[in-house]
Amino acid sequence: MLVLGIETSCDETAVALVDGERHIRADLVLSQIVQHRPYGGVVPEIAARSHLATLPDLVRDAMAEAGAGFEDLDGIAATAGPGLIGGVFVGVMLAKGLAAARRLPFIAVNHLEGHALTARLTHGLDFPYLLLLVSGGHCQLLAVEGVGRYRLYGTTLDDAAGEAFDKTAKLLGLGFPGGPAVEAAATHGNAARFALPRPLLGRPGADFSFAGLKTAVRQAAERLAPDDSQGRRDLAASFQEAVADVLADRCRRALHLFRADTGRAGPLVVAGGVAANASLRARLAAVAEREGTTLIAPPPRLCTDNAAMIAWAGLERLRLGLVSPLDAPARPRWPLSELKDHAA
Ligand code: KG4
Ligand code: ZN
Repeated sequence: MLVLGIETSCDETAVALVDGERHIRADLVLSQIVQHRPYGGVVPEIAARSHLATLPDLVRDAMAEAGAGFEDLDGIAATAGPGLIGGVFVGVMLAKGLAAARRLPFIAVNHLEGHALTARLTHGLDFPYLLLLVSGGHCQLLAVEGVGRYRLYGTTLDDAAGEAFDKTAKLLGLGFPGGPAVEAAATHGNAARFALPRPLLGRPGADFSFAGLKTAVRQAAERLAPDDSQGRRDLAASFQEAVADVLADRCRRALHLFRADTGRAGPLVVAGGVAANASLRARLAAVAEREGTTLIAPPPRLCTDNAAMIAWAGLERLRLGLVSPLDAPARPRWPLSELKDHAA
């Protein structure tokens, strides 16, 4: 089986081909960072126009890299949401057009399901497992019980973890995108210097909140002298440590909920752009070990947005006969809980 995947829901234009043996035959990602950097964040119309300009050639390049023709494909998958709708339209429309022209199945993939199933592509993992999904737009803990079958344990009450990284980077003048910049600054910082809050730490349940932490970072940043670059590194390190404490606590609690539901200790899987952070991964690995299980983290390249995860989710759905009609909608909002009706 060979599936072409297209991802255009945010600021990466991505195309990949993945086969049924879990081989990634091509995996191309075109970042728009340079176009959005002057604005300090992703500008939806610039993103959509850039996807429109670059996607067709990227499909051609990925097909060439995989050494595949359209006659070799078994299906075409595209992210149909959630995401910035102009970009989603671009990817879905091209995928539908190719599918119609080549009489191939079209699979509308939920971007979050792409992140959720990545560990099955990279590690051949069986269901069920506990997933911490931490990206720029999402922060959730859920049991992955099957394709389309997710049980939500916790979600953020305000900001996503990646959003907190991006805002912290902005406050500290570290640039865009924020996550890698904060991580780099934190490497040379003293995490004990600033006493920042740990929202919801120790509370029952597995929800998250980062708004209070963001406010505390702003207040601390305002008190720093403009030339205090060591202070900024210390604040970045203190912030990262606070996020790690919160994520570790929430994961520990979710592992208990998961054990009560499934009788299994784990494994704990981490996905989404924030999962690229090495110190967070180390903390989560320690939590998993203490709870008698292991942390499974896809390589950073497959944690941030990519199309291999979309092709793979499409392939998993195709295997189960879960194909989409050509009038399938594109959705700006599309919680994983709404996939239940379409599960096998
Ligand atoms: O999954 P992703 O690529 O896109 C979304 O679906 O949101 O995640 C992007 C987010 C951004 O907020 C970015 O700052 C964050 O992931 N991120 C990181 C790191 N690399 C990316 N956060 C912390 N540490 C990193 N090394
Ligand atoms: Zn994502």
